[in-house]
Amino acid sequence: MAIALVILAEVFLLGGLDLGSRTYSSLSDSLQAYRFTDVHTCETLLETQDNVAYSRDFRTDPVLVATTQQEQEEWSSCSVGCRFGIGLDKIADATFGVPPYENTDRILRSMESSEYYIENKIDVARGRGFNIIMTTSLSSDVPVGYFSWAEYDIMAPVQPKTEKALAAAFISNCNGNNFRLNALERLIKAGIKIDSYGACHNNRDGNVDKVETLKRYKFSLAFENSNEEDYVTEKFFQSLVAGAVPVVVGAPNIHDYKPGHGSIMHIRSLDDVPTVAKIMTFLDQNPEAFNQTLRWKYEGPLDSFKALFDMSTVHSSCRLCIHIATKLREKEEKLLKFQKRPCKCRSNRGILYHLFVRERGRFEMVSVFLRLNVSVPLGKFPNC
Ligand SMILES: *[C@@H]1O[C@H](CO)[C@@H](O)[C@H](O)[C@H]1NC(C)=O
Ligand SMILES: *[C@@H]1O[C@H](CO)[C@@H](O)[C@H](O)[C@H]1NC(C)=O
Repeated sequence: MAIALVILAEVFLLGGLDLGSRTYSSLSDSLQAYRFTDVHTCETLLETQDNVAYSRDFRTDPVLVATTQQEQEEWSSCSVGCRFGIGLDKIADATFGVPPYENTDRILRSMESSEYYIENKIDVARGRGFNIIMTTSLSSDVPVGYFSWAEYDIMAPVQPKTEKALAAAFISNCNGNNFRLNALERLIKAGIKIDSYGACHNNRDGNVDKVETLKRYKFSLAFENSNEEDYVTEKFFQSLVAGAVPVVVGAPNIHDYKPGHGSIMHIRSLDDVPTVAKIMTFLDQNPEAFNQTLRWKYEGPLDSFKALFDMSTVHSSCRLCIHIATKLREKEEKLLKFQKRPCKCRSNRGILYHLFVRERGRFEMVSVFLRLNVSVPLGKFPNC
């Protein structure tokens, strides 16, 4: 499947300017200097005068991450030099658990819900001195989600729905910091026939292949044990693989994870149960409408879904190294020499901005030019 390449337009300050006797102390100076130059001259000027010179070359001096347990030592496929290890020969840039030196970043990594592990909440973790946070939250520095193209055959074909019951549930434990047990009971009360393979309200032998079993059902009850933003586990992704429409109790932002329009159902509160039950019954009785909910299986998922999954094509340890290397560069960019880059040029066809962008999951920047209509406010690109 074609994976959409998501370009992160990260505007970077680049320096190492060799301006000879000329210095541009302000924006208006530099614009004046390049006023009404033709576009090609403008590009040439910027390419030669606005170029990169960072002090650390990560190819020869890789990002070092100290660990307490042996992890894979090197991530050779990573787009930035990246080494993990115990007892590294140099002071590490960041550490998991190993007592840090000054200037060594402390990393927190966990896939557990912060409703159960309060220390995983971003602000709590920051308060405890962790400056690189890796959790299921997409707002964390290096998200570690359950989604992954490698793990889930998301586009597996839809199979005939041969079970009598409308939905399957694999809930090992009726407890949870939310209302999932009540939701299950109310769905049953509303007349939805549910085969329960887990210990919670068990009525089927749970010793089965979960995904293969789900494939035979129209719906899957993807009930998480907590309703936390971005806490979306294999319950949800396995339902998608199986082509069983997930009926979700869990992340309030679960719609950010949907593969297609109308492809999932969300029980936000118990008040939603009667409506959800009605829709399930309707879809059960209208095969064409039901087939519409799985349209993404035939036509491909939404771009937002692909963007989410594409993050996982780069291992989280490599993304961690990219994050660390980027932080080190950003720190260097605060130096004066980086502040005075001639990053734009006024040509006869508008202002030409020199930007550095990279593909998500990559470290190297690619230089691009962006020509903007003069009426665009100049403050649009900070630092340029
Ligand atoms: C569902 O729709 C797809 C195309 O959108 C079609 O190829 C498929 O045969 C349909 N399946 C059923 C059971 O109607
Ligand atoms: C810039 O944008 C304005 C308003 O959208 C438009 O009137 C003008 O023609 C544009 N100029 C150029 C050079 O494209």
